[in-house]
Amino acid sequence: MTWIHDAATAVLRRLDPEIAHRLSLQGLAWGLGPRHLQDDEPSLAIDLAGLTLANAVGLAAGFDKDAEVADRLLSLGFGFVECGTVTPLPQAGNPRPRLFRLPADRAVINRMGFNNAGLDRFAGRLGRMPSPRAGPVGANVGANKESADRVADYVIGLRRLWPLADYFTLNVSSPNTPGLRELQQKTAMEELLGAVAEARASLSATHGQRPVFLKIAPDLSASGARDILETAVANGLDGLIVSNTTLARPASLVSPHRAEDGGLSGAPLFEPSTALLRDLFAEAGGRLVLIGAGGVGSGAEAYAKIRAGARAVQLYTALAYEGPGLVRRIKRELAARLRADGFVRLKDAVGAG
Ligand SMILES: Cc1cc2nc3c(=O)[nH]c(=O)nc-3n(C[C@H](O)[C@H](O)[C@H](O)COP(=O)(O)O)c2cc1C
Repeated sequence: MTWIHDAATAVLRRLDPEIAHRLSLQGLAWGLGPRHLQDDEPSLAIDLAGLTLANAVGLAAGFDKDAEVADRLLSLGFGFVECGTVTPLPQAGNPRPRLFRLPADRAVINRMGFNNAGLDRFAGRLGRMPSPRAGPVGANVGANKESADRVADYVIGLRRLWPLADYFTLNVSSPNTPGLRELQQKTAMEELLGAVAEARASLSATHGQRPVFLKIAPDLSASGARDILETAVANGLDGLIVSNTTLARPASLVSPHRAEDGGLSGAPLFEPSTALLRDLFAEAGGRLVLIGAGGVGSGAEAYAKIRAGARAVQLYTALAYEGPGLVRRIKRELAARLRADGFVRLKDAVGAG
C-alpha cells in the first residue's frame, strides 16, 4: 500500500500548501493513512522525563494544531505526537497566503500566526480520544495575539488540559506572533516559568505529574540560550525542545519564496538547530532532557541529533515532502545506525558524538 500513499503525497505536493495540509488532515481523519503495528525495534524505546516512548521519533507541533487526528498520527508510527499550538481563545491567524514551499531547499516558510480553534475544541477532542493511547500525546500551548496577559494564557492552557494531555510544551518561540519571542528574555522568562511552576504544583497534586517542556528559537545568542537553560532548571522544567523555526535566511536558499516573511523549517534548519542542541547538552549536564527538532528527514539526521544530545527527535517539514512512509524509514535507518555503532539502546547514544 505504500505506493498509494506515495502517489497521494505526490498529488498533494502540487496543490496549494495550506489546502494540501487540510486534505492530509481530512484523509487521516477518514482513516486513509497507513496503519502500522506496534512493532518498533526495542533499541528505539526510551524514557523521556517519565514518558515511555516505544520509539524516539515524534511529530512536531503545528501539523495537528487542533488535536483532530492525534490517534491516527500515532498509527503512522510516531513514538509521540505533539498537538497545538493551542491558545485560550480561537484565532484566525495571519492572512493567506501564509505557508510557502521551498522544494529545491527541502524547506518551508510559514507565518501561520497560531491559527487554531481554541482550548475548548482542543480539550473536547483530547477527551474523546480512544484510550489507552498508542503513545504519549502532548499539548503545545501558547498565548493569543491580542491577549493583555500572555503569562496568564499559558497557565490557562495548562489548567484546562492537565487531565487530558500526557505532556506540555510552552511555546515561546514562534516568530509569527509579534512580541512572543520576547518571553525568552531573562525577566520575562522568570515570570512565565515562575507562574507555570506554581500552577503545576497544584495541578500535580490533584491530577498527577506531567512533564513540561519549553520550546525555544534557534536564533538565540549563546548567552541567551544559557540564561534560558538556567531559568528552566531553576523552575523545575523537564526539558527543552530545540528548536522552533528560524528567522534566518541562509545564503544557500535558491527557491523563489525564500524572501517571504515567517519561520524557515526543514533541511536548512538542521545545522543551526543541531549546533544549539549540542551546546545546550554540554551546558545542561543532565539537569534536564533535550528534544531535537529542525530538519530531521532521515535516520542519519535523527541519529545526529541524538548523538548531539537529544533524547528524542521531532519532525514536521520532511513529512510534508516525503509522506507518511517517512516515519518507518527513519526508524529503520536509526535502528540500523545504532546497531552498526554497537549501541543496544538509544539512550546509550544520547550525547555520544
Ligand atoms: C507550517 C508549520 C506550522 C508550525 N506551527 C507550529 C506551532 O503551532 N507551534 C510550534 O511550536 N511549532 C510550530 N512549527 C514548528 C515545528 O514544530 C518545528 O519546530 C519546526 O518546523 C522544525 O522542524 P522541521 O524542520 O522538521 O519542520 C510549525 C512548523 C511549520 C512548518
